[in-house]
Order: sequence, then structure tokens, then C-alpha cells
Amino acid sequence: MSLDSNQDFLELETALRGITLGGLRFYPELGSTNDEALSWGTDHAPDFSLVLAEKQTAGRGRDGRKWFSAEGSSLTFSLVLRPNSEERPLLGRFAGLGALALVRALRSWNVEARIKWPNDVLIGGRKAAGILIESSWEGEQLHCLALGMGINVREGSVPPDAQALFPATCLERAAGLKLSRFELLHAVLNQVQELRPVLTHEAFLQAWQSALAYRGEMVRIWQGQQVSFEAEVLGLAADGALRVRKPGCAEEDIHFGEVHLRPLG
Ligand code: BTN
Repeated sequence: MSLDSNQDFLELETALRGITLGGLRFYPELGSTNDEALSWGTDHAPDFSLVLAEKQTAGRGRDGRKWFSAEGSSLTFSLVLRPNSEERPLLGRFAGLGALALVRALRSWNVEARIKWPNDVLIGGRKAAGILIESSWEGEQLHCLALGMGINVREGSVPPDAQALFPATCLERAAGLKLSRFELLHAVLNQVQELRPVLTHEAFLQAWQSALAYRGEMVRIWQGQQVSFEAEVLGLAADGALRVRKPGCAEEDIHFGEVHLRPLG
């Protein structure tokens, strides 16, 4: 670890005072924090252990896409989570846990963010953060989840529109926020800790649903790259699936997978 990264580590420890982590690993450079969280989780990392990297060389998003992040301007981390027996039937809610924690954290800076189901956080209609939930299993036995989050904080973190699947932004540009990345991390972790005990409750689902983008609006839903249809976003099902209605049809639930939403118009 270089002198600078030692200083960063001290700054991080100070910023995270009051948050009870299972463990903490901080890397100036790492392939992917999700890979590290999954392997540490398989190797008995306690629940709520944190892996943070200043720079990822192989950061990934959903469907194996590359996650663009720039040193010093993004906040990229993963939490090792060990779902208990009540949470295990509702693993689909963990993407909501991450997204809602960020939305609520941003409210303390008066920033209004929305969740583009299943895993994006939008500010002013542009993507400012993405969540990636991955799991490690042995047969039927779940070892752990990695809740990975990449937040575009400063300008350098925003991918050019030509490289982004969805128009992107950062907190600095969209909300004029000039905040310390570790202060933001503290606020997000604090929210994860507050929300986790109610993850299985109806109130969690309601809070997640009320932060959804496009609710009551028509969107185009892509399933894979070829198949798409238009539907109205109604809300969420108990397992975290998106409840929609195609014109003239009954309600249906869209499950996680290779699914993307686009607003119409
Ligand atoms: C997406 O938008 O598809 C999800 C992006 C998730 C990126 C984060 S950055 C920290 C963690 N490590 C990774 O490799 N990916 C997630």
C-alpha cells in the first residue's frame, strides 16, 4: 500500500465511524469488488463486510457489461451479505435494498433520485449509479451475496453517451453536489443498516415502490436484444418483480434477467 493509500485508509476508517462492519478491505486497485466480496464471503467473511476499491480494472455491470469507473471520481464498493432464513426466500429484494439505501442517503443532501427497476439509480432521468447483486452457492446452499454499487460522484466517472447503454450523469453534474465520497459511503451504509431489518416487511416494499421511476407511465421493456413490448409500470410484486400491464391485457410480473426499461417518448 502506498503512502497515499494508507492515508486514504485512515480517512476511510474515520469516515466510517459509527458503522459496525463485519470486516473491511480497501484496495487502491482491484479487478472487481464483487469478485473479492464473493470470494471473501465463501471464505467466511462475516455478514456486512465491506470491500472498497479506488479503482477497478474489471468492474462489471449486469449481463456481463463492463462498468466504467474512474479513480478518485467514482465510489465503487461491495458488501458481503449473509441472508438469514427469513430473507432467503426474498433474495430479489436485495437489489431494492441497495438502490433504496442510496436514494434515501441522497435525500439528506436534498437530492431527489429514482430507481429504474431493477438496479439503476437515476437523477434527472439519467443514470448516476448501478447496483449488481451476485451470489455464491454450493449446490442448494447459499454462501453469501455480494451487493455491489458503483456511484458516479464526479465528472470523470461519467461514461460518454456513445459508450453508455442509458444516458449517464454524476452527482456533481446532476445535483451540483461536491461531497466527499467517503461521507456518501457512510450515509449509504447507514441506510442499508436501517433498512435491512425491515427488508422482509410490507413497508420495505412500499418504500421501494414509491421510489420507482416511471410508475404509472408507459415504458418499452426489452427482454434480450430482440424482443420488446410496451407496458404501463404498475409497481412491484412481493418478490421484487416489476408489475406491469400491456395495453388491453391483465397485469403481469417481469422477473430479473436480461430486462431493460426505456421511457416512451
Ligand atoms: C449495472 O449498472 O449494471 C450495475 C453496475 C454495478 C457496478 C458495481 S461497481 C462495484 C461492484 N463491482 C463490480 O464489478 N460491479 C459492481
